[in-house]
Amino acid sequence: MSVRHFTDLSTVSATDLRAMLDDASARKARLKAGERSKPLDGKVLAMIFDKPSTRTRISFDVGMRQLGGETIMLTGTEMQLGRSESIADTAKVLSRYVDAIMIRTTAHNRLLELTENATVPVINGLTDDTHPCQLMADILTYEEHRGPVAGKTFAWTGDGNNVLHSLIEASARFSFNLNVAVPEGSEPEQKFVDWAKSNGGKLRFTRSAEDAVGQADCVVTDTWVSMGQEHRARGHNVFVPYQVNAALMAKAKPDALFMHCLPAHRGEEVTDEVIDGPHSVVFDEAENRLHAQKAVLAWCLGA
Ligand code: CP
Ligand code: NVA
Repeated sequence: MSVRHFTDLSTVSATDLRAMLDDASARKARLKAGERSKPLDGKVLAMIFDKPSTRTRISFDVGMRQLGGETIMLTGTEMQLGRSESIADTAKVLSRYVDAIMIRTTAHNRLLELTENATVPVINGLTDDTHPCQLMADILTYEEHRGPVAGKTFAWTGDGNNVLHSLIEASARFSFNLNVAVPEGSEPEQKFVDWAKSNGGKLRFTRSAEDAVGQADCVVTDTWVSMGQEHRARGHNVFVPYQVNAALMAKAKPDALFMHCLPAHRGEEVTDEVIDGPHSVVFDEAENRLHAQKAVLAWCLGA
């Protein structure tokens, strides 16, 4: 069998993604019931972080331990990678030591170069372009609260960033409708839109947050300035009409969920009344990073 990389939702089949979510639910239930199996006993995951992280770092670390494995935490600057050793050579060396690599990095090409040169599975822990592990947790969270996501309508309001790109891919892979409201100049990259549309995605774009959120089953937003994107920060005024506040949330269906990958910038993209309110499932999303990624690790490592 060829090496199973988890680079993006577009590079893994819908069948495999659905199987991973089923596995995540089953593993979560077994964990809550007190079962402790160790299918990754003796396996080591190397984690490389070129950007800060709370959830990704801790959930992968704890997830690996719960599965019986171990992790090595690395930062690009502490490795020879930071002194211009190539990603390709780094991938070949790490592949001689560890069983899988998780990387959070800047340019998506760095992830792809690692993937092309590693002989062990590589997992995308966020790049400038995408955040697929987040969407696995988010779909798991939606379905725990509201049942099958297929046919439902999600609304994104805010910046057209890496999380939106993965949400766009998720909409095609899991067959839900996606309304997107972003200000001019903050549009998602067209290649993600094109891919989703040619894979059955039902996307609708609007400049109006109210229009996007109207009758939505789930409202999603994220920071207006992503890590490493400070140079393209546009000033907050342009994003103010895209803030998720109680008035905007009231346009969605009465039982709509509110999602945010965290960290949140309270008072900017979301108000306290929404993120701490009855629609919000943000801490379930954070918890489900653990359960979803254990299924990703098991899929990659054949456990
Ligand atoms: N949502 C998320 O990826 O959080 P961290 O940046 O804390 O890992
Ligand atoms: N879009 C955000 C996500 C953080 C988890 C960023 O890239 O900074």
